[in-house]
Amino acid sequence: MKNMSRNPLIPVLSPSKLSRVACLLLAGAVVGCTTKAEFSENAVFILKQERESKEEFSRQRHLDLAEVLAGMFGTPDEPNIPKLGDVEVSKVLDATHLHVASGPVSSDERGRARGLYREHCAHCHGVTGDGAGPTAAFLNPYPRDYRMGIFKFKSTPKGGKPTHEDLQDILINGIPGTAMPSFKVLPNNEIEALISYVRYLSIRGEVERSLVFLATSELDAEDRLFDPLATSDVRSEQASLIREYASEVVQKWIDAESQATPIEPPNPSRDLQASIKHGRELFYGPIANCVKCHGDSALGDGQKTDYDDWTKELEPTNEEALEEFLSLGSFVLAPRNIHPRNLRQGVYRGGRRPIDLFRRIHNGIDGTPMPGALIISDDAPAGTKGLTKSDLWSLVDYVRSLPYESISRPPVIEQGYQRSRM
Ligand code: HEC
Ligand code: HEC
Repeated sequence: MKNMSRNPLIPVLSPSKLSRVACLLLAGAVVGCTTKAEFSENAVFILKQERESKEEFSRQRHLDLAEVLAGMFGTPDEPNIPKLGDVEVSKVLDATHLHVASGPVSSDERGRARGLYREHCAHCHGVTGDGAGPTAAFLNPYPRDYRMGIFKFKSTPKGGKPTHEDLQDILINGIPGTAMPSFKVLPNNEIEALISYVRYLSIRGEVERSLVFLATSELDAEDRLFDPLATSDVRSEQASLIREYASEVVQKWIDAESQATPIEPPNPSRDLQASIKHGRELFYGPIANCVKCHGDSALGDGQKTDYDDWTKELEPTNEEALEEFLSLGSFVLAPRNIHPRNLRQGVYRGGRRPIDLFRRIHNGIDGTPMPGALIISDDAPAGTKGLTKSDLWSLVDYVRSLPYESISRPPVIEQGYQRSRM
């Protein structure tokens, strides 16, 4: 065939466009016409590593990365569970669940719903779980990019993965005050399938990041990530390095199940008014120093120029870098500052129960500037820097009283407490 682009009447069609056109023409007449969904590459992190290592991520590297990831994780239509030797991947990823959650929206030969993720989540969180689905740019906060492996509302300490129960709570309750809806109406097995699929996308995304890191920081420029034509010794060395990086990610999900911070309930006979007063002193005091971010009137206006970890990847304060990241494509969402919560509204994203607030104040909120508390034991000598568990419950009592506290009554700062602002 002659080069078609010479004839202005015949547009050049790529094979995928051709198949889409064929689908339109034959709509209804044939099955299997849905265009294949593909995982997209983490272009932001690759560029970040390129900038850092001052080395181009070669075409070979892109190909190797795609191949290794497809081998381990399959595709959005046919997900795989990676095989990682002794690591008990099946504890966190279940093949049946992944099958049900993945693929195009349809039902399988047994009448079971399939494609749950694409039906309920992908328009916000994206097929790849990059938080950049078609509706993402219109939302504030943006939907979560799972690929960093960082989650906000969970029971485990800073840096820990969410437990199964944490993800279940998120799916059942949604995240109040954000676009993240509740999926309470879905049957339990579908919730389970979606939990597995979130883990799958997060693990895949984090493994991708660590392989990009491996390639750009540990390997020489000419070393292949994986070379199918290399000698068997080289191949097995390459494969075991990849497995090692992937195992580390999966193991953190397995470990999370036993890492929930144990919480003893507050003393039920405490004097609530005294506890609130103590909580307020702490809130404005130098150790808890909640005022620094949540502001004098707790309206969340103390510190409004910071960014969350997802946004920090774009180096938002470095104009030249930011421009480069934004030019990667429309899937890179414009940076916005993160604002501390307005605590007068009584809307808590991670749940409104006292135990939820205790967790947020105890462990902080991962991926955001909200810090965890420095905990000391009840019998620590006077003057030890930190907060006891009962101090934390007082902070919870105070935070819970804030929506009812008169804002026209400015807080009394006790003598000896100095507000510090950094
Ligand atoms: C209308 C958009 C929208 C839809 C649909 C949606 N989400 Fe979200 N989701 C969000 C937003 C926005 C956030 C981020 C909230 C925040 O950062 O406080 C989020 C956050 C999350 C988180 C992170 C929670 C954490 O602790 O950090 C998980 C997990 C999640 N969504 C899973 C899902 C799943 C699974 C589905 C489909 C069943 C889904 N979401 C559908 C908008 C959406
Ligand atoms: C360095 C800044 C900073 C400090 C200090 C800080 N916070 Fe926060 N806090 C934040 C940010 C930012 C958020 C919003 C995080 C998000 O996007 O979900 C937040 C959210 C919260 C929430 C909302 C939780 C939810 O589920 O919605 C509570 C409650 C809270 N902070 C209480 C406190 C208390 C109590 C203190 C003092 C012990 C404190 N914060 C100190 C920055 C801070």
